[in-house]
Amino acid sequence: MSWSAKQYVAFEDERTRPARDLLAAIPAGDVRSAVDIGCGPGNSTELLVERFAGAEVRGLDSSTDMIDAARKRLPNVQFDIADIDTWNENGPFDVIFANAVLQWVPDHATLLPSLVNKLAPGGSLAIQMPDNLNEPSHRLMREVAADGPWAGKLAGAAGQRTDMESASGYYSILRACCSRVDVWRTTYHHPLADGASGVVEWFKGSGLRPFLEPLDEAERAQYLKQYQAAIEKAYPALSDGSVLLPFPRLFLVATR
Ligand SMILES: C[S@@+](CC[C@H](N)C(=O)[O-])C[C@H]1O[C@@H](n2cnc3c(N)ncnc32)[C@H](O)[C@@H]1O
Repeated sequence: MSWSAKQYVAFEDERTRPARDLLAAIPAGDVRSAVDIGCGPGNSTELLVERFAGAEVRGLDSSTDMIDAARKRLPNVQFDIADIDTWNENGPFDVIFANAVLQWVPDHATLLPSLVNKLAPGGSLAIQMPDNLNEPSHRLMREVAADGPWAGKLAGAAGQRTDMESASGYYSILRACCSRVDVWRTTYHHPLADGASGVVEWFKGSGLRPFLEPLDEAERAQYLKQYQAAIEKAYPALSDGSVLLPFPRLFLVATR
């Protein structure tokens, strides 16, 4: 499933804000090493470099397009192509930062303790994930997928996002291996000037990718047309033509 840095950074300010909010919740302490897993085009890594001046900050991502963009953005930072699923470095790291990535990586009950194991004592694992699978934006992706000639091709698309645990489920998983766990959920409301087409553009850079990639060009255009029509009904335009997109996100900061 390929990622496009160009499409992703179209809404960079909005996408980076949760990363700032997540970073602000990491307890103060002596950080000598920090790693940004699923670093994307380096927008979140840049925040780590600013906050942890003097620390060794690195980034990793499974997408070559994203890593190329990150290397251009921060030439003095080490970026590696790696998959979190098979990432076998032991650290120890003082901070592991995972902003908007672990929703694509399965089996959180095993994954999260294995990431905590890579932390130094007192180190923090900081995670933010969109909690939007039940929002109209994502329900409609699934409904349009099931209701068209592409249904067979898209049968596996929804399954590429990992089913999230509840807040208390994550708390229990992390509390078993950490001294302090902070969990909170925020709904951002993003004004998108281009209305429903802005909503579609936003998700083309993230949640829609598994639904678009298996389709040929003609199917993709038709799928997007049906999806946009459904989005127009679900997110009525305001008087100036814009749409306010509610976007819930779950945050976890666990300190070993
Ligand atoms: C939504 S972007 C987040 C980028 C950045 N961290 C931010 O805060 O905006 C998700 C990134 O996770 C990467 N990714 C998805 N699955 C991954 C995996 N299994 N291992 C490593 N990176 C992964 C994608 O390539 C993409 O760059």
